[in-house]
Amino acid sequence: MSHFEIRAKDGLARLGLLRTAHGTVRTPLLMPVVHPGKSEIPPAEMASVFGYQMVITNSYIIRSRAKFRDRALEEGVHSLLGFSGPVMTDSGTFQMYVHDLPEDEIDPIDIVRFQREIGSDIGTILDVFSDPDVGRQRVEEDVRVSLERAAVSTAEKGDMLLAGTVQGGSYPDLRAHAARELSKMDFDVHPVGGAVPLMEQYRYADIVRAVLAAKQHLPPDRPVHLFGCGHPMFFAQAALLGCDLFDSASYAKFADTDRMLLPTGTAHLDELRELPCECPVCAGDSVDMLMAYSKSERAYVLMRHNLYVSAAEMRRVRVAIAEGKLFELAAMRARAHPALYEAFQAMMEHIDLIERHDPVANPSSVLFTGAETTRHPAVLRFSHRVATRYPFRRARTIVFVPPLGDPPFADTTGPLVDRVRETSQDDTLLFFVTPIGVVPWELEHVHPAQQCVFPSSLDSETLAVAGRRLQALVNSIEYEEALWLSRPVPTDRLSEHVPGVTRIDSMSSVLDHMPPAGSAVYWQRKLTALVAFQWGLQLDASDVSRLDVRTSRSTGKVRHVLSGDELVFTLVPTTGLLTPTYSGGQLLIDAGLDEVYHVVMEEEAAEYVAKGRSALAKFVAWASDDLRAGEEVVVLGPDRQMVGVGRALLTGPEMLAFSRGVAVQTRHSKRS
Ligand code: GUN
Ligand code: ZN
Repeated sequence: MSHFEIRAKDGLARLGLLRTAHGTVRTPLLMPVVHPGKSEIPPAEMASVFGYQMVITNSYIIRSRAKFRDRALEEGVHSLLGFSGPVMTDSGTFQMYVHDLPEDEIDPIDIVRFQREIGSDIGTILDVFSDPDVGRQRVEEDVRVSLERAAVSTAEKGDMLLAGTVQGGSYPDLRAHAARELSKMDFDVHPVGGAVPLMEQYRYADIVRAVLAAKQHLPPDRPVHLFGCGHPMFFAQAALLGCDLFDSASYAKFADTDRMLLPTGTAHLDELRELPCECPVCAGDSVDMLMAYSKSERAYVLMRHNLYVSAAEMRRVRVAIAEGKLFELAAMRARAHPALYEAFQAMMEHIDLIERHDPVANPSSVLFTGAETTRHPAVLRFSHRVATRYPFRRARTIVFVPPLGDPPFADTTGPLVDRVRETSQDDTLLFFVTPIGVVPWELEHVHPAQQCVFPSSLDSETLAVAGRRLQALVNSIEYEEALWLSRPVPTDRLSEHVPGVTRIDSMSSVLDHMPPAGSAVYWQRKLTALVAFQWGLQLDASDVSRLDVRTSRSTGKVRHVLSGDELVFTLVPTTGLLTPTYSGGQLLIDAGLDEVYHVVMEEEAAEYVAKGRSALAKFVAWASDDLRAGEEVVVLGPDRQMVGVGRALLTGPEMLAFSRGVAVQTRHSKRS
């Protein structure tokens, strides 16, 4: 049974809870590396002063010195360290690599057994550390031996959680192979190993590729640990790739050479006039005072600074995940160093994978950080859904309008919108041409169309992406006439992508060219477009004509959708999306709702959901590979009869993998 549970998601990142024998910790988290004998900062202070939940130490070092070994065996590693929280132990892999120790220095089974005997909460196998540049054959051999040892280690773990490290150097296929093989074994955590030299050489892009190659093939319910990633400037990006655990010896190593860790890079004390941060050390000391200290006093003080800063950045990462803002944080951090920027670009090559894990309908705003914002997961998904799901592909006239600025865009286009509201989709389509691409009028209120904040001047890459999206959509639509309201904004330049377009300077002239008002019912168009956008479902005109809406008295916007007297959908103001009621769920099923949006429960759990309880991951019998977290889904019993509707909190594969946590938060059920 897995010990990990997801509470929130953002990109591939998760806010999680990891249960250990010494308490439950919140992830992503950073473990300071502590030395059993000579930790200048007592491990207890790691928790009480700096707020670390968990520490990591080295079982090989403990076992090599009689005084540590005997005490650890007698009293346990927690007592040896004087730390009451969870303790992870490493195996000596890294010492074997750094000191080039003989093969038989450590027995792979003995060292796992030893970790269990000293009461480690999470032990680590004796994997073989591959130097990044040794060539494929050697890495293949290292992976082979690591997997062999992994296979015999799990039998030794007892009640201890066990970490099975993914090696594979810079060969994505070897990383993938190692991850697939380790997935089949009884591990609780999967570190990505071999990253220390890459960190030291600023080869962050290689780390990104290694993590993604492994991550795609690891079971989602096992936390991923990025071994040896102790620099805070990389935490946000690594977390966005799905790393849950981190360890840091850097806080001490950097302090020994007068270097200060910062979330934006490394500062060398001898190049500073003032201390550059807000931690208690920097607030209370000065460069001159630090320089006057002895070397060891100075290292101690800098170590404390490094610990404060690293803990703060990891908290910032957790806050960003909770707010759905980790992409922005990682994008900002990527500006700290060109190597981080390169890593961010390497990640962007896999943005489709990240998007699939990113929860839909997260209402947070998307703030422009640079051209990458055009491929922010929420933006990417919006433009992809418009391109593939927007239901109206044939019209007499398309009117293109570059919005002037703040949403809602309709506020500065009143007369045009009024006219469009009174024409059918066969007469007129109205497309707002924005920096994220086309926003059809019917979907203007759908997240993130309203929530994207761009500067009023745009870089050429952002404009080029918006242009390509516009062109692709236009090419998929049959029209007789294209009218473009020219306005003094950067997206106005994109009219060159519309074949046969007529540019018109004034709104009243556009109106003169448009089809006359008819008797169309505007919200029927909106509903058709919304249902298509959300579920890829094409409602029949006759189905839509049976629906009716109630608008909000204060805003005039659609709030509720009824079928006869029955409430079928509510429109969520913050996301512009629909949530179905129980009858709404039935309506969707009757209209042919794709199985992607079905979650099938086991018998007993289905009865609970029918009474209004949430659907627990543990009891999910089937969910689609393509189901994203955040979607509105129908919950079915084993007989495929609907028992409830609600919001998916996990992806389909996560629902099947996890044995803890909620899969679908039930909104409405059969008997409630
Ligand atoms: N510490 C830093 N890197 C590694 C690694 O790849 N494996 C293990 N076991 N420990 C490490
Ligand atoms: Zn400081």
